[in-house]
Amino acid sequence: MAKETLTITDNRTGKTYEVPVTEDTIKALDLKQIHVEEGDFGLMTYDPAFMNTASCRSAITYIDGDKGILRYRGYPVDQLAEKATYLECAYLLINGELPTQSQLDKYTSDVTHHTFVHENVRTFIDGFRYDAHPMGMLVATVSALSTFYPEAKHVLDHDIRRQQMVRLIAKMPTLAAWSFRHSMGMPFVYPSNEVSYTENFLQMMKRIAEPKFEVHPEIVKALDVLFILHADHEQNCSTNVMRSIGSSRADPYVAVAGAAAALYGPLHGGANEAVLRMLREIGSVSNIPAFVKEVKSGVGARLMGFGHRVYKNYDPRAKVIKRLADQVFDLVGKKSPLLPVALELERIALTDDYFVSRKLYPNVDFYSGLIYEALQIPADMFPVLFAIPRTSGWLAQWEEMLLDKDQKIARPRQIYTGYEEREFINMDKRSPASAQPATTSKRETD
Ligand code: ACO
Repeated sequence: MAKETLTITDNRTGKTYEVPVTEDTIKALDLKQIHVEEGDFGLMTYDPAFMNTASCRSAITYIDGDKGILRYRGYPVDQLAEKATYLECAYLLINGELPTQSQLDKYTSDVTHHTFVHENVRTFIDGFRYDAHPMGMLVATVSALSTFYPEAKHVLDHDIRRQQMVRLIAKMPTLAAWSFRHSMGMPFVYPSNEVSYTENFLQMMKRIAEPKFEVHPEIVKALDVLFILHADHEQNCSTNVMRSIGSSRADPYVAVAGAAAALYGPLHGGANEAVLRMLREIGSVSNIPAFVKEVKSGVGARLMGFGHRVYKNYDPRAKVIKRLADQVFDLVGKKSPLLPVALELERIALTDDYFVSRKLYPNVDFYSGLIYEALQIPADMFPVLFAIPRTSGWLAQWEEMLLDKDQKIARPRQIYTGYEEREFINMDKRSPASAQPATTSKRETD
């Protein structure tokens, strides 16, 4: 039987090393023994943006990007979207198994009874400018929750930790809806214990003066499916931030705030907002060829909602969302005028060699914005709608990190490319010309 090892010959010294291979992976620390001189720091790997580095072992979410597979705890996401609710998925992500009916009832009751926020949070949201972006408000207010629950810093205490996890999942929709209401200049709507998690969020966003606010159950289901599809996505940018902040043992409120901030960027969860703005900018099918030409030139905008670091095939979430979009358009009784633009862009991207050769397929964000638009939710709110369900994924990953004996505070290495030591220059001797370009490249040794 072949040995599960890797033999490395260092041509600088002629020495040979054998390092174990487990799960098709070598440990970066095993390379440290490879050095030219005694006392050297040893060999490192250089991997900006973690292109080929596993930062953890995880049992939560499985993705096969080439085959277009996404599973939470082993269950295909399309089956969960069809058969489960978002809270069932949140329970699954966090606990590893689908809940029994009584477990789900208790979990739903726990979450439902933690949706209110302290009245001071309300004043806090009121303090934002009238045109503040709701994602900025969400990031700030979820971080502020840390000050309301000082016990949350005891992250290694199971019961305290779990209580904050319930609070965060319960309160995110309230903060999100209130951020939206503030930006609309509308009074806040308090949470209701009478309706589901997702319907409650819609009520807090939309209710005006109706004595009984009713949403079509299929609309609630559609949003719930979107929540399921966005619940987790293994080690993406924001999850990596969540784990990284959590690795310093910071409390989960500030860690979620950091993760949400990472999600806000247009290359990550902010892409759904960017997609809609892009479709509006293109405006009509006749403008597409010029737009695509600009994208392909590499100097213009990217085709937002296309491409993914991991999926080199159709994003399985995009498939479900595309079907969902049709159902929602039927329910609201009108198709988005941007739909023909989206369909034509997709057709071109799936046939044009530029996109095909780079394996740029529609991702989760390409169609979700059109659904939100049909539900009359403004584009500013799209990343907020992503952050609500992703909170369960962030928390599951955070807890897994805290309980993982392999993990320590996250602290990458660097290759130092700056100056060697030099003498301080007094002010009267400084000139722009006295600056010399850095020429050395050195590893840090702390
Ligand atoms: N439009 C046009 N060209 C693209 C796009 C795009 N959307 N995405 C990648 N490319 C091109 C790049 O220019 C590059 O071409 P080159 O080889 O000629 O230089 C090649 O494809 C590889 O691109 P990278 O940037 O190296 O791919 P990476 O894995 O780093 O980026 C990302 C992935 C950030 C998602 C990228 O595809 C992108 O910017 N997409 C648009 C934004 C988007 O939709 N983000 C949402 C992702 S899903 C999520 O986060 C929830």
